[in-house]
Amino acid sequence: LENGSLSIIVLGASGDLAKKKTFPALFNLFQQGFLQPNEVNIFGYARTKITDDELRDRIRGYLIRDKGASSKDSEAVTNFLQLIRYVSGAYDAEEGFQQLDKEISKHEVAKNSAEGLSRRLFYLALPPSVYPSVCRMIRHFCMNKRNIESGQSEMNICNVPLCNHLTADLGGWTRIVVEKPFGKDLQSAEELSSQIGELFDEPQIYRIDHYLGKELVQNLLVLRFANRFFLPLWNRDNIANVQIVFREDFGTEGRGGYFDQYGIIRDIIQNHLLQVLCLVAMEKPVSLKPEHIRDEKVKVLQSVLTIKDEEVILGQYDGYRDDPTVPDNSNTPTFATMVLRIHNERWEGVPFILKAGKALNSRKAEIRVQFKDVPGDIFKCKKQGRNEFVIRLQPSEAMYMKLTVKQPGLEMSTVQSELDLSYGQRYQGVTIPEAYERLILDTIRGDQQHFVRRDELKAAWEIFTPLLHRIDDGELNPLPYKPGSRGPEAADELLAKAGYVQTHGYIWIPPTL
Ligand code: BG6
Repeated sequence: LENGSLSIIVLGASGDLAKKKTFPALFNLFQQGFLQPNEVNIFGYARTKITDDELRDRIRGYLIRDKGASSKDSEAVTNFLQLIRYVSGAYDAEEGFQQLDKEISKHEVAKNSAEGLSRRLFYLALPPSVYPSVCRMIRHFCMNKRNIESGQSEMNICNVPLCNHLTADLGGWTRIVVEKPFGKDLQSAEELSSQIGELFDEPQIYRIDHYLGKELVQNLLVLRFANRFFLPLWNRDNIANVQIVFREDFGTEGRGGYFDQYGIIRDIIQNHLLQVLCLVAMEKPVSLKPEHIRDEKVKVLQSVLTIKDEEVILGQYDGYRDDPTVPDNSNTPTFATMVLRIHNERWEGVPFILKAGKALNSRKAEIRVQFKDVPGDIFKCKKQGRNEFVIRLQPSEAMYMKLTVKQPGLEMSTVQSELDLSYGQRYQGVTIPEAYERLILDTIRGDQQHFVRRDELKAAWEIFTPLLHRIDDGELNPLPYKPGSRGPEAADELLAKAGYVQTHGYIWIPPTL
């Protein structure tokens, strides 16, 4: 295990992402003992001119998840906030980053251990437009030191001419964490990747997709490859279709300006849902090594065929354009359903239906694997519904198998029921960690398994870019739908056309405790 000084620098410290996700995740790690006060310093950096205490005050209210915080929690909050310091500066200002480096170095020395390790984690809670300049500044002024004891700036490895393998054997590391959107299409994403790639090596870059940090997403590999049940069934011979669904019951209020530039495909489908698709569809990796897993994900992505216009339904909820930050003539989709087809031996002919929408009738994310009908059905129960394996990512994490059983009683009739593994019931008292918490811990440990590799990102953009360009050019337009509805009806029709058979009259009800 590594030890020595660990500096976590949150850039964009006064923004929404930092307040709502990054700092609370750091706090949870601190509370669980993963961030030791004798090793860790946390720095906020942003343009706003505020003091350390003002930043602490801004963050405080977001740290405790549950309402009923105990006095122990309040004490932990106070101790955590003491670790945080603030430096203000522009995202392209040398002085700002020099000042930041000075602060980091000063506290590194104070928290140095015998080994003199200098570990620096830069979390870019920033819009991607400033990634290149921020990365340049970090690269030139804020890299980890070879040896904390032996001095400061002259040992700064940024004085060494740009070279590869910056982290190895230099007594520590520098890593950067970046958030989506990584570009708007293939070309802009590739530009961004090469700009950052000139400054940092791939093992130093952590591209976060927070869906990869969700408990049930992380469970997918275990489910698929550690269970004999699934091995023979998980293919085109048995599976009729797969749906990966994201629904939110609120609109884009408050972030219409951002959203309108991206739309639901870039915001949810190209990243979150596609990552889930990879884990559902990929072949068994050689081992659990991050590179082995990511190699398999890339292969799936490269096997996805061009999306056909007739297999896409777009929607925009009524009232979306009332947001003053959204243009009156916006054709940005807030809803999309589309069919992806994977051209390989396992999945040829099996539609993967990706569906995401804002302002719908419910909030949930799930994977629904629908099996084919039983051949030679003697129960005449075909109309009742098909076997389905459902993984409910959120809320009420669960997985359940919808299956046909004998209706209890004297008659020989059949009914739809389920084998249900609901986490709340099965794992009572277990707190499921937040996605960001887990992923930040991975960045500290240097585990890139749950992060998106550069070639994976490129393959993901290759799938969606032609479609996105047609939408941007106004060649495909969204259908209107009512907020609080299921989205445009045409989406259900597309689902049926793709072969999904809905089970009428059956609803899975999460068990109450
Ligand atoms: C973000 C999107 O990446 O994910 C948001 O930008 C969306 O639009 C959010 O609301 C959903 O995340 P979660 O974890 O609440 O499902």
